[in-house]
Amino acid sequence: MSQMELDVGHQHELDHGINPYEDPEEHQAAVSSLYSYLLYRRAAHRNLTHRRRNAFYNLPCAHQDLLQKLPISYLKKLDMVDDAIEHNALLSEAIFRTAGESFGIDIPSDKEGKKALEKMVTPEDLDKVRSTIKQFYRDWSAEGAVERDVCYGPVMKELEERYGALGSGEKAGIRVLVPGAGLGRLAFDIAIAGFSAQGNEFSYHQLMASNFILNHSSKANEFVLHPFINTFSNHKSVTNQLRPVLIPDVHPASLLATTDDRFSMSASDFISGYRGPESAGTFEVCATVFFIDTAPNLCAYLETIRNLLVPGGVWINFGPLLWHYEDHRPPKREEGDGSFEISLEEVLELIPAYGFKIVKRGKGNTAYVGDGMSMLTHSYEAEFWVAEKI
Ligand SMILES: C[S@@+](CC[C@H](N)C(=O)[O-])C[C@H]1O[C@@H](n2cnc3c(N)ncnc32)[C@H](O)[C@@H]1O
Repeated sequence: MSQMELDVGHQHELDHGINPYEDPEEHQAAVSSLYSYLLYRRAAHRNLTHRRRNAFYNLPCAHQDLLQKLPISYLKKLDMVDDAIEHNALLSEAIFRTAGESFGIDIPSDKEGKKALEKMVTPEDLDKVRSTIKQFYRDWSAEGAVERDVCYGPVMKELEERYGALGSGEKAGIRVLVPGAGLGRLAFDIAIAGFSAQGNEFSYHQLMASNFILNHSSKANEFVLHPFINTFSNHKSVTNQLRPVLIPDVHPASLLATTDDRFSMSASDFISGYRGPESAGTFEVCATVFFIDTAPNLCAYLETIRNLLVPGGVWINFGPLLWHYEDHRPPKREEGDGSFEISLEEVLELIPAYGFKIVKRGKGNTAYVGDGMSMLTHSYEAEFWVAEKI
């Protein structure tokens, strides 16, 4: 994907004069991502409740009778899950409606045209909608503050320690890049704290969702979301499974209106967007959270971080090493499609080879979009470090 700026206020400005939609593959990826938001409702009803009703009616009658009665009322529970899907679908369809315009995708008005586009949507696209909807819980609900405090908190604290004493003008001159920005909360928080912040992201699903919440949600607590309905496993109670959260916990557009354009999102692959000479020395800080392990080739990420930082610039990192390309082939890039996976010890050996000095280290135990009330919890012992470009 070539770099495209999605500014607050000018959500669809193309940077570097390149139109990503001239590339048919890009266009197809954008369209199938867009339509998957429209298809969420139907797919969720089919996969979560319709399939279970059929399975229920295949049970022996005596078992059906028992399960239908109080206290289990299984069919009633499926009705409640249907209601929860309807709530989630309001958000997913709102994303669909705004993303078409923001991303310059024409939505056909005739039935045939719509059908043809819907056919482009893959099961992976629908999976991404489900996980993105759940991710709103991490970035944009009050309850998600538990994860945000552990993961984004150390970044905010480091920024405050280094630059907190600066006056507002000087603080605004500290440019912070957040690669792999997801739904945008960390970059948003950094801008609200007085810095200049740019989030960078390459997934259309994420970009469409962050564009909606940042630019088009109309008030705090606008949407009721049920983040934990995607699975029926490991819930201690139906109440836990169905529990709602309200999003967004704050109204981003009202707060961003006070930031004098200090916030932007860029749509590009991190390496292609920031490794070139035009990006050299354009940021004082690079903040990576749950990001560096998305690299098939960490060396290329390190080169890019080094390139974009000013001399003496600071790289702040928090996250685990769940190498995303361990089990599948990475996409083809200019520097080839090679990949490698290394341990923390080895990552820490590699960092100085790229001209960084690690000046601080720490740890944090956290889940990633975790259901804290589930019988199954994943916990990372995530690593935190601050490194200066020497
Ligand atoms: C594990 S998520 C973390 C999101 C966010 N930082 C957080 O902590 O919630 C990693 C994000 O990096 C994005 N990403 C992965 N590789 C990327 C690349 N090469 N360029 C830009 N974004 C990338 C993914 O789309 C995803 O949104």
